[in-house]
Amino acid sequence: MRAGICVLLVLGVSAGDVQRVALKKHNLSFREYVSAIHGQAQELNSKYLGSTGNVVIHDYQNAQYYGELTVGTPGQTERVIYDTGSSNLWVPNHSPFLAFKNTYKHSKSSTYVKNGTVFKIQYGSGPVSGVYSEDTMNIAGIDATKFTFAEVDKTSGLGLGYRLGKFDGICGMGWDTISVGGVKTPFHALIDTGKLPKPEFAFYMGNNADGELVIGGTDEAHYTGSFVHVPLKRLGYWEVALDGVTLDGAKVSSCPTAIVDSGTSLLAGPKADVEAIAKKLGATSILGKEYVVDCNKQYSMTFTLGGNDFPLSAADLILTQAAGQCILGLLGMDIPAPAGPLWILGDVFMRKYYVKFDWGQKRIGVAAAKSAAIVV
Ligand SMILES: *[C@@H]1O[C@H](CO)[C@@H](O)[C@H](O)[C@H]1NC(C)=O
Ligand SMILES: *[C@@H]1O[C@H](CO)[C@@H](O)[C@H](O)[C@H]1NC(C)=O
Repeated sequence: MRAGICVLLVLGVSAGDVQRVALKKHNLSFREYVSAIHGQAQELNSKYLGSTGNVVIHDYQNAQYYGELTVGTPGQTERVIYDTGSSNLWVPNHSPFLAFKNTYKHSKSSTYVKNGTVFKIQYGSGPVSGVYSEDTMNIAGIDATKFTFAEVDKTSGLGLGYRLGKFDGICGMGWDTISVGGVKTPFHALIDTGKLPKPEFAFYMGNNADGELVIGGTDEAHYTGSFVHVPLKRLGYWEVALDGVTLDGAKVSSCPTAIVDSGTSLLAGPKADVEAIAKKLGATSILGKEYVVDCNKQYSMTFTLGGNDFPLSAADLILTQAAGQCILGLLGMDIPAPAGPLWILGDVFMRKYYVKFDWGQKRIGVAAAKSAAIVV
């Protein structure tokens, strides 16, 4: 099993420019996808069904996008998943046996300041815990000093997905309101440096091609047309009003809310809606969670946001295929109030649509992604 299959490279640019980050995407096999969807289902359960205030640590068996940042002085490199569905920076100070994680050693940093407050998350099979610490964090060349993050020594609760995954930690890109411990979020800290051209970031998720994350702006090379802007409903996740969901023009959901989550690979919606969609498509559930559909079937699923339609074709919704059977990137999951019900628009959506996360104006911008080769 391969895990953590996307590579993010931080490229040096001069201060005041947008910070470009390259993303590499590789393919999973059919079997890997089946196991990945099972992992994803568990991950989403922990992420959105956990008790309030719990962080959001993913199992990450699935295709994920990760990149580097450094913590400490001199900088200690960590590979993190940039996750718009959570809000804390978390890095390991201890590597599980044979997991080969890049660990943060505060004794080797001249800018480390002890905090020591316990950071603890209950996850899947067990806890993930450590303490908060304060140090310099550097993302894409920008130093945020005196930044409070978690250094974690117990990761058993993350399971095999973490041990096999290529990432070390998680960099939450959500809002302060869902930050565990109420600490300032990494992106908020970057804004406070005054070095970002604009208080926003944008993802281009490469589809069997390189991709890019921009910090402090957007990259016109990776989208066409103009952004449809949708105001945030709540500052927590990147949460917006969902005007509607249709399958071949017929309404298939009345769920009023969607979140855009770069840390989730799939689309996830209310169970009853997803079951009805699967039934209409003649899709079968092979192991209880993932849906398999005839690869020759053509259909279009449309999410309406900000009064504009964002369609996804069969090709966009398919994760992989084997012997004429295609796995749908769609998962049913009921998220209870107050967070839910909601649709989670993960990488399946973000590969087709370039999403700007506009912190300054409390909105997202969605445009058609352009499958252009990245200029490095
Ligand atoms: C991944 O799969 C796509 C579609 O099946 C194919 O076009 C592409 O070449 C594959 N990429 C790699 C690196 O194998
Ligand atoms: C630890 O960090 C939190 C959040 O910044 C802060 O409220 C708390 O006072 C700090 N504790 C210590 C002992 O520095």
